Amino acid sequence: MHILDRLNVYLFHRNKSLNGRSLNYKMQGWSSEKEQIIRFKAIANSADFSNKRVLDLGCGLGELYDYLSQDKHLAFYLGIDQHWPFLKRAKKRIGSVQCRFRLADISRTPLPELDIIIASGSLNYQSRQTDYLERMITRMYAAAKEVVIFNLLNKDVFLKPTLLKAYDKNDVLSFCHTLTPKVRVIDDYSTGDFTIVLEKS
Ligand SMILES: C[S@@+](CC[C@H](N)C(=O)[O-])C[C@H]1O[C@@H](n2cnc3c(N)ncnc32)[C@H](O)[C@@H]1O
Repeated sequence: MHILDRLNVYLFHRNKSLNGRSLNYKMQGWSSEKEQIIRFKAIANSADFSNKRVLDLGCGLGELYDYLSQDKHLAFYLGIDQHWPFLKRAKKRIGSVQCRFRLADISRTPLPELDIIIASGSLNYQSRQTDYLERMITRMYAAAKEVVIFNLLNKDVFLKPTLLKAYDKNDVLSFCHTLTPKVRVIDDYSTGDFTIVLEKS
C-alpha cells in the first residue's frame, strides 16, 4: 500500500481515537460494537479454529483473539497492524506466549505461513494500487496452510466514496475462483458486508 494511503488509514484511526475515552469499536472504525461482533461471529463460524495457528491482518486492538478464545483453544495467534497505539493497548491487555502482535504494513511484510489467515475490516480502505485487494487475497492464499477468511463492505449498500472502499461481491468471488474452486460466501449477517472463505485443498 502506498505510504500516503497508509497515512490516511493512520489518520482516520488517530482522529477517531483523539478523545482518550473513545470506545474501542469506535476508534477501530466500527459504527457500533454489534457491527464488529457480527463480523467476528461470521468468521468464528466459518472454520474449525481448534488448535489452529491464526494470523489476523489489520488486527486493531486484537479483539478477535478474545472473541475466538471464548470457546475455542487456539494454538497460536499473531495480530499484525500498522497502528502502534492499538498494538500497545493489545499487548498490555493480552500478553501471552500464544498471542503475539507485530507492527507492520500488511501489504508488504512477508506473511508467516499459518493455518488460518484472517482480515476483518482491514481491506476496506482506498488504495491508489488498483489491484490492492487482489494482491492481498493472493498473498493470503499463498501463505495460508488451510483457510483464508476476509470480510468486505458491500458496494450495493455502501455507496458513499470516502476513505473506505466497498466491493462487488460477484467480482470478488470471480477473482477468488481463479485461485481455488473452494470458495464460500457468507452474506446473511449484514446487508452492508460479506465474508469470503477460501479453503486450501
Ligand atoms: C476497521 S479496523 C478492524 C480492526 C480489527 N480487525 C477488528 O475487526 O476489530 C482495520 C485495521 O486495519 C489496519 N490496517 C489497514 N491497512 C493496513 C495496512 N496496510 N497495514 C497494517 N494495518 C492496516 C488499521 O490500522 C486498523 O487497525
